[in-house]
Amino acid sequence: MQKSLDGRTVLVTGANGGLGEQFIIQALERGAAKVYAAARSPRRWDDARVHPLALDITDRVAVADAVATAADVDLLINNAGIAPANDSISGPEDELRRIFDTNFFGTLRSANAFAPVLASHGGGTILNILSAAARLPLSTGYAVSKAAMWSATNSLRFQLQGQKTQVVGLLVGMVDTPMSSRWEVPKVSAASVVTQAYDGIAEGSLEILADEAARDLKSMLNMKGEEFYPMLHEQFASFKP
Ligand SMILES: NC(=O)c1ccc[n+]([C@@H]2O[C@H](COP(=O)([O-])OP(=O)(O)OC[C@H]3O[C@@H](n4cnc5c(N)ncnc54)[C@H](OP(=O)(O)O)[C@@H]3O)[C@@H](O)[C@H]2O)c1
Repeated sequence: MQKSLDGRTVLVTGANGGLGEQFIIQALERGAAKVYAAARSPRRWDDARVHPLALDITDRVAVADAVATAADVDLLINNAGIAPANDSISGPEDELRRIFDTNFFGTLRSANAFAPVLASHGGGTILNILSAAARLPLSTGYAVSKAAMWSATNSLRFQLQGQKTQVVGLLVGMVDTPMSSRWEVPKVSAASVVTQAYDGIAEGSLEILADEAARDLKSMLNMKGEEFYPMLHEQFASFKP
């Protein structure tokens, strides 16, 4: 049975993307009172409860404006992210900064900016969309930015515990969205990820592992490093960013 979002006011960043659209659709299905669909280029939605909002999370002024407009939010979904092709931790450095500006600083900025709004509504919830890549030794800025944001998510939970904000991290491997279209590998559906996310939030989860890849990686964390990392290196030897 689906868990309800009755009466909640939700804001989704990156709302035009594969997961973003599902976050909007399922919020409506679960009875959310109001949903801000935040996107760099807002689109029309056929439901009066959806309020399109212009938001580039790398733009400080735009984030401040979004907070002023959406001062009734009690569930913030930090979903926006980028995974550029040919990404490498060897650089170029400007590209690594661009990835961090979105996946790390943009996400953190949005969480920090909305924290007082959430506090004023009893604490509320922040859901950060991370990635199983956060636990993988992939040599990409994407994986490293998601690992940094995984750490920041856990720190935010500690930072915001006094205001009773539920801070949730979601890790998942490959999801069938435009972002992953260049990889021909098994993928889970965006709908299944979002279903687990909303159920997890309702159940008070702090970490949501939304596919086998994420769950397997977590279960292997007590392996010796000398076994764990060479095993993953072999498994991902042919991975092309
Ligand atoms: N797909 C996967 O396999 C997978 C796996 C693990 C985690 N994730 C994570 O899931 C989240 C959603 O990704 P997706 O798979 O749904 O990919 P997607 O379809 O490419 O959607 C990503 C969305 O983020 C938006 N975005 C990018 N930079 C932004 C910025 N600076 N400000 C605001 N919005 C921005 C994009 O906006 P535009 O429409 O304007 O380009 C796009 O709508 C991301 O955080 C991604 O890292 C994805």
